[in-house]
Amino acid sequence: MTASTKLRKRVLSGMRSTGKLHLGNYVGALDNWVRMQDEYQCFFEVADWHALTTDYADTSRVKENSLEVALDWFAAGLDPEKSVIFIQSHVPAHAELHLLFSMITPLGWLERVPTYKEQRENIKDKDLGTYGFLGYPVLQSADILIYKAEVVPVGEDQVAHIELTREIARRFNSFYGQRGDVFPEPQSLLTLAPKLPGTDGRKMSKSYGNTILLTDPEAVVRQKLKTMVTDPARVRRSDPGNPDVCPVGDLHKIFSDRATMDKVNVGCRSAGIGCIECKSWAADALVQLLHPMQERRKKFEENPRLAWDILEAGTARARQAAAETMDDVREAMGMSLAYESPAAKGAK
Ligand code: TRP
Ligand code: SF4
Repeated sequence: MTASTKLRKRVLSGMRSTGKLHLGNYVGALDNWVRMQDEYQCFFEVADWHALTTDYADTSRVKENSLEVALDWFAAGLDPEKSVIFIQSHVPAHAELHLLFSMITPLGWLERVPTYKEQRENIKDKDLGTYGFLGYPVLQSADILIYKAEVVPVGEDQVAHIELTREIARRFNSFYGQRGDVFPEPQSLLTLAPKLPGTDGRKMSKSYGNTILLTDPEAVVRQKLKTMVTDPARVRRSDPGNPDVCPVGDLHKIFSDRATMDKVNVGCRSAGIGCIECKSWAADALVQLLHPMQERRKKFEENPRLAWDILEAGTARARQAAAETMDDVREAMGMSLAYESPAAKGAK
């Protein structure tokens, strides 16, 4: 690591390893991470343990899902020369810090986390009454604090987890920080993502089955666009429409250039263009965005070994950074193995 990277603020973020990523993951997070790489010292983790908190019953796809996420990251431009890219479960110190945090985290803090309550109510096909699921945000706090990250780029749904991370850091520092704070109180950096509709007009989400994947080939992208819902008021070709209430209009706003946007605005409102034509322009913009990513991905698909090598090297760097923090943690808690003479102890 060069001197300049040492001076940059540390960033950590992660994604649960749930397989191939979609456009919502890109505009909601990945695109932002790619840009942050030049300004911060970034750590990006494939959170496979977090995936297990809900999908613990069948682990047959865990490894494959982690690889798929990593390939999409490399394709989108996360760069192992700039950032530390690694797999959570291969940095076991996260689990050690999670355990120590679990000692000092009041149950009430966890039961109050909004995502916990929501998911317990909404997800009925899995038993989420587990110890691990309740501890999800404690593990996330360990992920962040083990790198002493100060900045955590996340979407709105994660803000409560970062708040909890700050509370855990504060509590740890107040118990054990007699010789100075061990942990910073990290800030969430909200990704100001425009709402990205899926093909059915609802928010793009894997659980709705309305996604466009970063790996979808051109023909699939075009097909998905063809069946995408539009302004419901525009029934016939001769009816004027309104791009502001049309999911395809939303895609144009995010991905199309000014000139296309103008054509859409004018043409839709005057019934001068048809939805088929309008959708083909949106598909053009998506294909243009995805094509270079898919080209970059090819090299790894043909030779997955390359990706594992990068992940292995990243994981080694992460382990090193995590070990440094764990030394501080053990020291602060008076649990370091180093022998201290009674005289040295008295002098403190
Ligand atoms: N909980 C995050 C999500 O579902 C994923 C995640 C795991 C994470 N560890 C993290 C995000 C640490 C930020 C920092 O999106
Ligand atoms: Fe939507 Fe385009 Fe059709 Fe207008 S022309 S309703 S923006 S798809």
